[in-house]
Amino acid sequence: MTLYDELKKLPPGLPPGNLTGYPGVWDGMVVVHQPRMTIADRAAAYLAASPIHHPLEVVSTADGGRLEGLWVLGNNYRGSGYHGAFPPGFTKRIKALFPDHPKILHLFSGSLPPEPGVVRVDINPELKPDLCLDAHVLSQFRPVLRNVSLIICDPPYSDEDCDRYGVCRVKRNVVIEECRTVLEPGGFLVWLDQVWPMYSKKNWILRGLIGVVRSTNHRARLVTILEKK
Ligand SMILES: C[S@@+](CC[C@H](N)C(=O)[O-])C[C@H]1O[C@@H](n2cnc3c(N)ncnc32)[C@H](O)[C@@H]1O
Repeated sequence: MTLYDELKKLPPGLPPGNLTGYPGVWDGMVVVHQPRMTIADRAAAYLAASPIHHPLEVVSTADGGRLEGLWVLGNNYRGSGYHGAFPPGFTKRIKALFPDHPKILHLFSGSLPPEPGVVRVDINPELKPDLCLDAHVLSQFRPVLRNVSLIICDPPYSDEDCDRYGVCRVKRNVVIEECRTVLEPGGFLVWLDQVWPMYSKKNWILRGLIGVVRSTNHRARLVTILEKK
């Protein structure tokens, strides 16, 4: 049975997901379990994948360290043109940090194109996401979103953004908790935003804070990386 078949069987009462065209990208995908990477390993993997970039700093902490740095990404006029689209090279850098996490859940996926190993989730059916649903109820899909170990979130950052997308304001604390419910222990949440979102230290370990800028006159953003305890 494919993941798509299982989604169709979800009990009544769950929010209607527009599953048309869901490609079942995780079906049959085998993940080879590797020794757990330390934060220093991730910094090294990032540098190996992009040697021309500045290294990320590994800040030592009592619970295993975290990454800190600044990414200056530059402009890209070949982007999707979608309001709030990822800056150029952004996902490449995130993937370089997580080579051991080939299955990715992109929450608030916007204009991202289909990609092997990636499940795109957005509330707007016109964008043809793999799963069309409200991030505030993500955990209701937990029975089928098994073994999620990396979630990348790019929510609307402000009321003005929400107006542009025609959506209600995102409750960051609710969505972060939904992500925690879906993630397996030791899984990562990568959150791109204009704020450093609040999270519970009881549930999460801070693993990274990376500033993201494109060029002058663009807003500055922050990547917060959290590991589920
Ligand atoms: C900043 S954009 C993401 C852009 C994306 N990173 C890209 O590169 O195209 C935010 C997206 O969140 C979606 N969105 C807004 N509220 C949502 C919600 N409650 N649940 C799921 N998606 C939502 C919007 O439709 C929009 O596409």
